Amino acid sequence: MEANGTSFLDKVLNIVKEDRSESVPLIQFKHPKDLEAILNLDVKEGVNDKELEACVREVLKYGVKTHKATFKNQLFCATDPYGLAGAWLAEACNTSQYTFEVGPVFTLIELRLLNHILKVFGIPNGDGIFSPGGSVSMMYGLVAARYKAFPEIKTKGMRNLPEMVIFTSQDSHYSIKKAAHWLGFGTDSIRIMPTNDHGQMLVEKLDEAIQIEKDLGRCPLFVNATAGTTVLGAIDDLETIADVCKKHGVWMHVDGCWGGSLMLSPKYRSKLKGIEQANSIAWNPHKMMGAPLQCSVFMVRDKGLLHEANCAAAQYLFAQDKFYDVSYDTGDKSVQCGRKIDSFKLWMMWKARGDLGLSELADRTMATAQFCIEAVASRPGFKLVSNVLQCPNVCFWYIPTFMRGKAEDEQWWEIMHKITPKIKELLILRSQLMVAYSPLLHHKNFFRLAFTFHPEVDNQEVLQMLQSIEQAGETVTMDMLT
Ligand SMILES: Cc1ncc(COP(=O)(O)O)c(C=O)c1O
Repeated sequence: MEANGTSFLDKVLNIVKEDRSESVPLIQFKHPKDLEAILNLDVKEGVNDKELEACVREVLKYGVKTHKATFKNQLFCATDPYGLAGAWLAEACNTSQYTFEVGPVFTLIELRLLNHILKVFGIPNGDGIFSPGGSVSMMYGLVAARYKAFPEIKTKGMRNLPEMVIFTSQDSHYSIKKAAHWLGFGTDSIRIMPTNDHGQMLVEKLDEAIQIEKDLGRCPLFVNATAGTTVLGAIDDLETIADVCKKHGVWMHVDGCWGGSLMLSPKYRSKLKGIEQANSIAWNPHKMMGAPLQCSVFMVRDKGLLHEANCAAAQYLFAQDKFYDVSYDTGDKSVQCGRKIDSFKLWMMWKARGDLGLSELADRTMATAQFCIEAVASRPGFKLVSNVLQCPNVCFWYIPTFMRGKAEDEQWWEIMHKITPKIKELLILRSQLMVAYSPLLHHKNFFRLAFTFHPEVDNQEVLQMLQSIEQAGETVTMDMLT
């Protein structure tokens, strides 16, 4: 029995290649208990490589093929092949991104890439760090803002500080709630601003809300503006929010986890005008761009702040008497100790494609979304949630024939609320399409098709997706909804 695993790697690579063939279905859905009964999950007894190969095949067989165009379930997508190569290499090197001595090339890569990214986002003199995801980047933003306002937080904690308040929009990502909890603000410290019909924060309400908190003697600390909300893809009016933040002396953070990728395109970056005035920015290359999960960038305008706010100066790791220039030991800016080489995946993609190649992918993605929104607008039975394309998100309902021509009253919408998930279920069971759905405050469940850099999707495939939704929708009956 061979159990050293080395030759097993070659085998796995071939199995992955086979799994990527056209004929492999998007998903072979099984309910959890049924799937558990099929899979050989127990690890007590070791198996030989042949049996392990069979396990790998099962894992892939029942896994979701996120590299297919019909995977539209999330905001992440097929990986950029260069990014995947970077991910494999980084895993094979298995080192950590904290000191120059264990990751000399990766340290220089991270620094150079961050400098380039900071220029793209309009804060060339800022600083940044790769983090494990947008939710963690949100926490970095709050920690930086709080430390800037009250540096004594680091030693004394929150007990003698004024009550701090956080502002965000109704359509913003839920990670702000988790961050408020984890960092000790509490979710009651969050003020939720209403949005307009297109999902953008009402900035005059923000201005008023900040003033109210000031008048009550509280400390308005942090405004979370969103450039690309999770569902509608709304981009807040960043310029006006920046004015309001400056007027009140409040930290402006931009959650550009989704929409930040539009900064790569000279054609579309003006949609995020004002981002260059932010105090901090989060961007997830692992979403629209297709960097392999996880790859998130946190940026901050104030150069020394990340280090000051986060350093713990552990002597065994960040000793100052090493024989090389220790300013290249950048890991103490991070909340993590060991840190994956996420920068390398993105560097490989950028190196292969350059600014121009990436901008073309962004433009192609927006063009596909534009085609989709027009197709949805003109197709019988489809109804757009918003007809304004901000990010490449197209949101809509499909109204089956039996629901058409009736009064769209509360009862009608309650039925629509059930129809959308039912259509999704049918599409998954038929392995045709995995599409996201969501309600919003004023909307019952609707579909979201969000387009990404990878894989390339042609217009015919977009029409095919709409047709799949239509066909599944036409098989829904009232009996199925109870
Ligand atoms: C707008 C927005 N911000 C932040 C996040 C959180 O990112 P992550 O999943 O990397 O934690 C998401 C995730 O979907 C998002 O859509």
